[in-house]
Amino acid sequence: MFDTHAHYNDGRFNNDRDEFLPDLKNKGISLVLNCGADLKSSIASIELAKKYDFIYASVGVHPHDVKDLKDGDIEKLRVMAKESKVVAIGEIGLDYHYDYSPRDLQKFWFEKQIALADELKLPIIIHSREACMDTLNIVKKHYNTNMRGIIHAFSESLDIAKEYVNMGFYLGIGGVITFKNAKKLVEVVENIDIEHLVIETDAPYLSPEPNRGKRNDSTNLVYVVKKIAEIKGMGEDEVVKVTTKNGMRVFGVDGM
Ligand code: NI
Repeated sequence: MFDTHAHYNDGRFNNDRDEFLPDLKNKGISLVLNCGADLKSSIASIELAKKYDFIYASVGVHPHDVKDLKDGDIEKLRVMAKESKVVAIGEIGLDYHYDYSPRDLQKFWFEKQIALADELKLPIIIHSREACMDTLNIVKKHYNTNMRGIIHAFSESLDIAKEYVNMGFYLGIGGVITFKNAKKLVEVVENIDIEHLVIETDAPYLSPEPNRGKRNDSTNLVYVVKKIAEIKGMGEDEVVKVTTKNGMRVFGVDGM
């Protein structure tokens, strides 16, 4: 399984990170993308990727944290993004649920980071919460045929899913698909071809049932795979095979 979105730099792994991570390969996890969310966690992601062959990194600043950015910080991201195992810019986007950063700043830095990804020919990992139309409009404004990426923790309607898929984006499906109230997301997974889906944890957040509320990690992807297989009437092995291949394609990485 390819966990296309995890935060193993998070403090909740401080006590067991170095015992826990090497063991993932024995538990069916072949690849992990450790996702940056600010400058510090982007550096931490690169360090994890240097330490573990199966971990790759993205660098980027989450909408929550763009309020702290200064003019020169895009240059810092550019330097980081050129490190060898950095394969994406993210997570970037808009979050109008919490509004931790003013919306005009969220949009400004989202566009700046999309432009950086475009310049470096890297895919983007998009975080969008309660900001559906603004996110889509910004992506469309910058769209070109080289643009690719993942809509992380996809939570919009089937119509919006189709818009992103038609532009070549992948939808990130995680623990939420196992929740009882996931009707809208189930409809998306039912109707969007598996060729456009990737699996992700957002570890340590968003644990699937039956581990909801506990610290999440990549081994919980088995519950996500099981649910996708059930919805689509496919074998679990096939879901793993195709979603792994999709993740490798979007990030341009080889299998281990
Ligand atoms: Ni995340």
